[in-house]
Amino acid sequence: MFEADALIRDSYSKFKDKVYQIEATEGPRIIIPVKLIPELKGLPEETLSAYEAVSEALLSKYTHFSAGAHNQTLSKLLKTNLSQRLSRLTPKLKQELEFITAQEFPECEEWTPFKAQPFLVRTVARLSGCSFAGSTLSRNEEWMDTSVNYATTVFIAAIKLQFFPKWMRPVAQYFIPDFYAIPRMVANAQARLTPIIEERLRDSEAPGYEKPDDFIQWLLDALPEEQKRSFGLQAHLQLILAAASIHTTSNLVTDCVYDLATHQDMQEVLRQEAAEVLEGGGDCWHGKDSLARLKKMDSFMRESQRLHGNVTSFIRKVMKPINLSDGTHLPAGTSLLAPLAGVSRDDRFYPGAETFDGLRFWRLQQQQQQQQEQQQNSANGGEVKDASTNANVGNRWQFTSIGDANMNFGLGRHACPGRFFAAAETKLILAYLVLHYDVRLREGEGRPAPAMFMMTKSPSPDAEILFRRRRS
Ligand code: HEM
Repeated sequence: MFEADALIRDSYSKFKDKVYQIEATEGPRIIIPVKLIPELKGLPEETLSAYEAVSEALLSKYTHFSAGAHNQTLSKLLKTNLSQRLSRLTPKLKQELEFITAQEFPECEEWTPFKAQPFLVRTVARLSGCSFAGSTLSRNEEWMDTSVNYATTVFIAAIKLQFFPKWMRPVAQYFIPDFYAIPRMVANAQARLTPIIEERLRDSEAPGYEKPDDFIQWLLDALPEEQKRSFGLQAHLQLILAAASIHTTSNLVTDCVYDLATHQDMQEVLRQEAAEVLEGGGDCWHGKDSLARLKKMDSFMRESQRLHGNVTSFIRKVMKPINLSDGTHLPAGTSLLAPLAGVSRDDRFYPGAETFDGLRFWRLQQQQQQQQEQQQNSANGGEVKDASTNANVGNRWQFTSIGDANMNFGLGRHACPGRFFAAAETKLILAYLVLHYDVRLREGEGRPAPAMFMMTKSPSPDAEILFRRRRS
């Protein structure tokens, strides 16, 4: 139950390119190797289902954790509205970051021990909240508590219920207090959201009304007329969004901060880049591509995620029998996983895989960029073009890119639609921290060990690391 990371890594090192089965606490799981992922990742939901796999893992029948018919609406709004507005959102996010840091981060005039993880969870919840629900709600403590705790309550409720045999679950749920907490949380969120939606619906009738630019509004616009006053539904979807975004992103930011403390040399590298890009004159924090130009930081984040990210990925349920090219037959009802923790440390994909190399992906990006420039130049008959015209080359190694050996954001049609937002939030927080603070581990201590529970790995919530405000 607490050793999934080791289980996946050990079994992967034995079986690597073969299909094999593990006995997880949640039941048997078939592990799919990287070479067979291409045969599966494009299959339709009716054959290989991501929604069904998540519903099963979180016992949605009882926890009601599912966006149901609105799954695609959520993803579409994240892919379009949210991702397209990232540069416009950055000033608002920076303001929110300064606000919470001023209130909740210690002065750190001298080296000060501080538990980074709880602060970073609250910071990410605030930043996400102000983009999803507007800053009035994101600064409301009850909203913050509900949006942070909803995911963990659903997760714990599902785990407790899983210990009961299937036939007992309809009754057993009533003996688990978390199942009473879940509807209370939705009701609480609904109570805070309803007056805001009502006001917007009322004001939208007025001439010259300017719509707010946040997720409440995008969802309201996307819902059919008869659901615009379904306040419970909208509260539920907001909580699902919070559940998908807060702990995933705060885990990443915390891992990056632990890596900054562990790999001291990276602090100056990232600080210089952040100073050049964000403080090089003018209001660069607000620049259209500022965060995208933090390429060394992008590489550092991907390396941190590679070594400390999820244990498994590509959680899928077989709905119709599938035959794989290696002769494996997957009957309907089979639960699949990809062995991410093993793949991420496989030297065939990442040479020197056990070593943390913060600029690994930056160098690969540079190489790819040079190759593409050379190819383009020879295609242009030797005429040398300005490298700045190639702003998007090197994409394959970017933090937000996905691939068969890089599944931290999943794969195929269900690949995380919030990853561009997560990248922007993480860069903003890290840039702010390196520009204002030095960070290190406690004397004689190593990188804080992660907390493991079932297939979930998260950075230590209790570790203290040391911060000191920079004096320049
Ligand atoms: C570092 C942060 C994050 C990580 C590591 C992460 C990871 C993932 C993974 C592994 C999946 C499943 C993909 C698959 O099964 O193929 C996923 C799905 C999803 N994520 Fe993220 N995520 C992050 C941040 C976010 C954020 C910030 C949002 C919202 C703004 C978000 C919204 C979603 C949604 C809605 C889905 C379901 C997509 C679907 O099933 O079609 N995620 N994420």
